[in-house]
Amino acid sequence: MLVEILDDYEAMSNRAAEVVIDQIRRKPDSTIGFATGSTPKGLYDRLIEAHKTRGLDFSKLTTFNLDEYVGLPPSHDQSYAHYMWTNLFDHVNVDPSKIHIPHGMADDIDEHCRWYERRIEEAGGIDLQILGIGANGHIAFNEPGSSLGSRTRIKTLTSKTVEDNARFFDDPEMVPEYALTMGVGTIMEAEEVLLLANVTNKAPAIQKTLEGPITAMVPASMMQLHRFAHLVIDETAASELEYTHHHGIAEVPDGQRS
Ligand code: GLP
Repeated sequence: MLVEILDDYEAMSNRAAEVVIDQIRRKPDSTIGFATGSTPKGLYDRLIEAHKTRGLDFSKLTTFNLDEYVGLPPSHDQSYAHYMWTNLFDHVNVDPSKIHIPHGMADDIDEHCRWYERRIEEAGGIDLQILGIGANGHIAFNEPGSSLGSRTRIKTLTSKTVEDNARFFDDPEMVPEYALTMGVGTIMEAEEVLLLANVTNKAPAIQKTLEGPITAMVPASMMQLHRFAHLVIDETAASELEYTHHHGIAEVPDGQRS
């Protein structure tokens, strides 16, 4: 695993942007997996800036998002589709026909999930998957206990997640209880996974991800089995690591993959 520990959120976002921009420049027709949440917002701001000021071209990319709430139309301001359009897609020249986001209102959810997996395969797999992490070690909506070989499917959200989300909804009836999510197995097939984390409340999850046993109770711990897991985290998220001297970028020559 390549672990880079940066000073703060700004530095983390800058470094993550370098990795993504480098991928797009090296392979303009890359397939990129996008994540939602507060963590990658700084990264997306920098991608927009690179498009506007340095001509970064998104037109040949194919994109796949990790997850979406069940029961929310893409137009709902809490849907992940809405998040992606407002935080990134509306501001760059991505081809709408190459964007994939699980559809939370699909009539046949199981068929939709199988179609999503097929689309990833037909696109030649994901070159770079951007990931956040939940405070309990979840990735996408693979909550603790998720099968480590899981594929795109419907998941019941934990009562904690449902409670946490309630504040974003005016109508309590609309608070989602289910989500569609790529599985841990789907995520593991990406060529490179770029996991971002900042904020102190992520520190225990990052410690378990890097230094704990591989367990379904911490789905992110599967990063230990990934062929190229790249973690770009800030000092606060790294604050509970025991072996920071092994993880620090100073120890890892540029481009070295381990
Ligand atoms: C949700 C999303 C995840 C995200 C996580 C952390 O559970 N499904 O994909 O990584 O929240 O979100 P944040 O970045 O806001 O801390």
